[in-house]
Amino acid sequence: MNAEKLSKRLMAVASYIPHGSRVADIGSDHAYLPCYAVKKGIAAFAVAGEVADGPYDSAVSQVRKEGLQEKIAVRKGDGLQAVHSGEVDTITIAGMGGALIARILEEGKAKLDNVKRLVLQPNVGASAVREWLITNEWELVSEQILTEDGKIYEILIAERGEPKRPYTETNMEAEKLFGPFLLKEKNEAFRSKWRAEYDNWGRILEQLSLAESNSETAEKRKEIEWKRAIAKEALSCEKSERL
Ligand SMILES: C[S@@+](CC[C@H](N)C(=O)[O-])C[C@H]1O[C@@H](n2cnc3c(N)ncnc32)[C@H](O)[C@@H]1O
Repeated sequence: MNAEKLSKRLMAVASYIPHGSRVADIGSDHAYLPCYAVKKGIAAFAVAGEVADGPYDSAVSQVRKEGLQEKIAVRKGDGLQAVHSGEVDTITIAGMGGALIARILEEGKAKLDNVKRLVLQPNVGASAVREWLITNEWELVSEQILTEDGKIYEILIAERGEPKRPYTETNMEAEKLFGPFLLKEKNEAFRSKWRAEYDNWGRILEQLSLAESNSETAEKRKEIEWKRAIAKEALSCEKSERL
């Protein structure tokens, strides 16, 4: 991959960056996304933020190689510490777990004042991101799920607004897990993801049945059984045990 030709996943993330925006990409290994966004004229200015030495060095050399130092500031820092207050209107965070993305947003809240759009691509645990958005008054405005090289990725796009708008009162917990837009669409990537999760949860339940029973395992069991039940309903395949 290079900044000319991004992966399908990062191209999808880039497609949600508004034209002319000032964007910060947090966790920007190689700075591929900011380089692409600036070169294509999507972003007017970008920050590539990285916490780790290796990826930070790769980002610095990539930006130098592309001659984009005037328009991309590569900075080392944990999460939004790499961003100065008020300098960006869009933030992308891709390729990390949902819990980490939620932590970065939570700890960097003070830097979000001028930010209008968040484009978030959790590799796992997207529900933690949806939960954070709801608690912090960000409205999920769109979602995408896609497959690349046998892996399935979700992209969540949020703006300031009415955080509960995309959710229905009676099905909110399930929608937080599956994604309210993705659950409506139920495309093939969605179905593959939740079929695999359903099978995986079944294996975990089998293991739990062999483990010593205590309040912790009972709680875990209950949670997985609930998730399996709603996944089964979402995939509308009540008749067979295997979806
Ligand atoms: C798997 S890579 C993803 C790189 C790129 N965003 C992508 O989607 O292809 C995750 C990157 O996030 C960085 N990272 C992890 N935690 C971070 C944090 N708290 N702040 C900034 N960067 C972080 C890691 O060092 C790593 O380079």
